Amino acid sequence: MTLDVHLTPDDFDDKLREDALRGLTSTPKCLPPTWLYDARGSELFEEITRLPEYYPTRTEFALLRHHAADIAEAARPDMLVELGSGSSEKTRVLLDALAPHLSTYVPQDVSEPALRTAVARLSVEYPDLEVHGVVGDFTDSLHHLPRGERRMIAFLGGTIGNLVPAERAEFLAGTAAVLSPDEWLLLGAGLVTDLDVLRAAYDDAAGVTAEFDRNVLRVLNTRLGADFDPDRFVHRAVWDEANEWIEMRLEATEPMTVRVPALDLEVHFEEGEQMRTEISAKFRLDGLGRELAAAGFAVRHEWVDPDGRFALLAASRR
Ligand code: AVJ
Repeated sequence: MTLDVHLTPDDFDDKLREDALRGLTSTPKCLPPTWLYDARGSELFEEITRLPEYYPTRTEFALLRHHAADIAEAARPDMLVELGSGSSEKTRVLLDALAPHLSTYVPQDVSEPALRTAVARLSVEYPDLEVHGVVGDFTDSLHHLPRGERRMIAFLGGTIGNLVPAERAEFLAGTAAVLSPDEWLLLGAGLVTDLDVLRAAYDDAAGVTAEFDRNVLRVLNTRLGADFDPDRFVHRAVWDEANEWIEMRLEATEPMTVRVPALDLEVHFEEGEQMRTEISAKFRLDGLGRELAAAGFAVRHEWVDPDGRFALLAASRR
């Protein structure tokens, strides 16, 4: 087993400083979702995946379980690369189905602790598989993928929805560019669905998503010496009808000034001011198919759950 670190702690700090400076000084304020996933944030996300309201993980898992054999038969990869692999929990069903042809599994994640745990565990559970972890941002990691004969890149969980359309186009074209004909992309994407279902999934009754959202302020406190008081922010989940994405926002409950020493910055919040911390775009199958085709992929299979909430697409490089 190996673990490549493409984002060293220093690179991470530079990127965080850059993102925080840009986001905290723009109007409206925003932060990219990457920084939600420190060790605590990754744990909170795992907790979210088990909430009754949060349907994406279990819906996708059921699709993977039902169709893993079809995926294996169609793509027959010797290497599975998983972008944003987190705990690699749901990957096991894929690994089992791909086992006859698979020699290498390459999980990639921004969270080094989460990845270390996953890599160590999988190496024990799958002694015949080479497990090669990559710590990095999923957009950068594409350029550092190990070579393989027939690779499949899996991008699951609906994380593609974290990207705005222009970023998505760039990401998908970049993915197509590193793949040869007959190499595959397995994509999990949330679909536009009932708004109450969507809102509840991103604002659960137990408040785990709210805690996950506010955790990004703790990350800024720890890593940049900021003095955010997370208790003075409430979590909001807002559906953007025009863009068909759900936004997580942190809303200031009172006016305040926050100091961020590492950026030499003071940031003022008005009462009720909202800062965007994530977008999670939801898709329509036809639109997603067009985006994939524009990037150079041919969609070979699409599977949707009975409630029409989540899709799993298998596409090959054209
Ligand atoms: C990990 C990006 C797929 O967008 O549903 C869960 C993150 N945010 N609850 C998603 C998330 C709030 C999740 N992804």
